[in-house]
Amino acid sequence: METASKNIVLNVNGEFIADPFAPSISAFDRSYLYGDSLYEVVRTYGGRFLYLEEHLVRLAKSADLCKMKLSKPLSFYAQECEKSLNAFNTLNAPKLTEAYCRLVISRGTGKIGFGTENILSGPTFAVIVQPLNPPTPEQWEAGYRYGVVDRWRNEKRALDPAAKTGNYLNSLLAYLEATNDGYQDALLCDSAGFLTEGTTFNLFYVKRDIIVTPPFSSGILDGITRRTVIQIARRMGLEVREVPFPKERLYDAAEIFMTSTIKEVAPVVEIDGRKIANGKPGKITRRLKNAFTEYSLARSEKEKKS
Ligand SMILES: Cc1ncc(COP(=O)(O)O)c(C=O)c1O
Repeated sequence: METASKNIVLNVNGEFIADPFAPSISAFDRSYLYGDSLYEVVRTYGGRFLYLEEHLVRLAKSADLCKMKLSKPLSFYAQECEKSLNAFNTLNAPKLTEAYCRLVISRGTGKIGFGTENILSGPTFAVIVQPLNPPTPEQWEAGYRYGVVDRWRNEKRALDPAAKTGNYLNSLLAYLEATNDGYQDALLCDSAGFLTEGTTFNLFYVKRDIIVTPPFSSGILDGITRRTVIQIARRMGLEVREVPFPKERLYDAAEIFMTSTIKEVAPVVEIDGRKIANGKPGKITRRLKNAFTEYSLARSEKEKKS
């Protein structure tokens, strides 16, 4: 435990916990009982958070979708994330280690029972900060091999994928099914057979230099990276279409890539065991990855000066 936890900072309800793997949240917390919680993952660039505000705005949307009342303003959670990042940076000083930060907010702790009258506390929160583990240059060049699983993405009328909640069991099972079949991760379709997204990432393909991605209305998470990449691509003069498509469209794509906070923009070179084009990262994927990193580093520098 000692080695595994030595780089991790855990802040539970404002208190730092010395042993992050020791119990610190009640078994009666609703996140544990029902997955009744929300979360966000944000990372650092040059040791500072970037896109934190966008993530907190999405958190507020998730709270609305889950009828969860946050007892504190978003600025409070931003401060708790900053406080935890400072502790992480101090722990790693003088070396600069980029951080992964996960903020989890649960509806609270209380007696068993769905009704909110059972809750005895206000919302509980935890901030976990640990070293960021992005793809290595070798992993990026090798690209990812994904499988489209049988399991559907949650329907919007079930648990709306637009809410980033602590209830990821559907995606987790999709991941286990795909990895069990030898793929590195899973893509999920909706009940009509249109692709939605991956377990923890958004999906794009390129054909005849046009970039295509499932629309937000298809029931996906409104990825911060997806949104930023679409803006960057359009600014670069590339055409981006947000339209539904079935999995067969991927098989003869010129390029496929995924986006997420941790992996930024990364190539997908195989789908369902079929090689995509020449099985190597495509040129638009590479341009977008470079443009996204450049944009993020520049924005981080600008925010540092202001
Ligand atoms: C289901 C799902 N889709 C997409 C994403 C990517 O979102 P972002 O770019 O905001 O990290 C995530 C990130 O965790 C996710 O869980």
